[in-house]
Amino acid sequence: MEKRSLPLKSDTKGEAFRLDGKVAVITGAASGIGYAIAQRFAEQGASLQIVDLDENAAKRAAEEIAQAGGSATPRSCDVSNQIGVKKLFQRIAEQGPIHILVNNAGIPHVGKLESTTDADFDRVFSVNVKGVYNCMYAAIETMKAGGGGVILNMASVAATAGLADRFAYSMSKGAVVSMTYSVARDYLAHKIRCNCISPARVHTAFVDGYLRKNYPGREEEMFRILSAAQPIGRMGKPKEVAALALFLCSDEAGFITGTDYPIDGGFFNLHG
Ligand SMILES: NC(=O)c1ccc[n+]([C@@H]2O[C@H](COP(=O)([O-])OP(=O)(O)OC[C@H]3O[C@@H](n4cnc5c(N)ncnc54)[C@H](O)[C@@H]3O)[C@@H](O)[C@H]2O)c1
Repeated sequence: MEKRSLPLKSDTKGEAFRLDGKVAVITGAASGIGYAIAQRFAEQGASLQIVDLDENAAKRAAEEIAQAGGSATPRSCDVSNQIGVKKLFQRIAEQGPIHILVNNAGIPHVGKLESTTDADFDRVFSVNVKGVYNCMYAAIETMKAGGGGVILNMASVAATAGLADRFAYSMSKGAVVSMTYSVARDYLAHKIRCNCISPARVHTAFVDGYLRKNYPGREEEMFRILSAAQPIGRMGKPKEVAALALFLCSDEAGFITGTDYPIDGGFFNLHG
């Protein structure tokens, strides 16, 4: 057997997954998974654009990151508004190339086909589908001009599993997965990688809001039931999704494009 010298030396000397010198635009970055991604990317040296509908929350998030030694600019924007999104990306691009775009902003909806109104359907579509399209559309030119980039979209296990009472939400996340494949294919030659992540339930304000609205007074009991429903026995943590996002947006994932990554506590493959 080949003799190996110890201690083992890493080629990367602790420099793996660094994002120094990269500009990352993260939507829905003022809360939950988006905020955890912003924190992680800032730790790794990225310059952040914190895009969120909630202007005050975006400012707070950017301030917290700056106080911790990171670089972050808050940007108030509704991703469903194409004109607003285009203006925002133009302003960002005037300062230099965008290297990473994380399309994380999304809204929930609970209901079957019959209880999904025309307005519900349009609202979910406009944020979860058109929001992702709008941001990719606005970023692609500057990424091409900059010689490449990475796009990461937040899908969900709902995209490919038949979840109860998630008609419009599942539709929207299915579209996120197919847009991801399409963009990955069409921009291979421009060195733009495009992937998505499909989490099962992750404990964020998204889940707390759902429990408050649908199970008032029974939030704790339902929290336990929802946690136990995942094979691993708990919900995911935003930090855990952020770690996967960091890997996929780093140069170490340079061979990965056109893929939907599950992060699901065993939801898809473990039964019984
Ligand atoms: N939490 C989960 O269990 C879970 C599971 C799978 C997928 N996801 C997806 O992950 C993403 C983030 O979810 P989260 O749980 O962190 O949610 P969250 O509600 O904690 O955060 C979402 C953020 O997006 C912002 N936002 C909403 N609409 C917007 C708009 N039109 N324009 C700009 N910003 C907008 C909100 O203000 C908020 O800051 C969503 O796309 C969601 O569908 C979440």
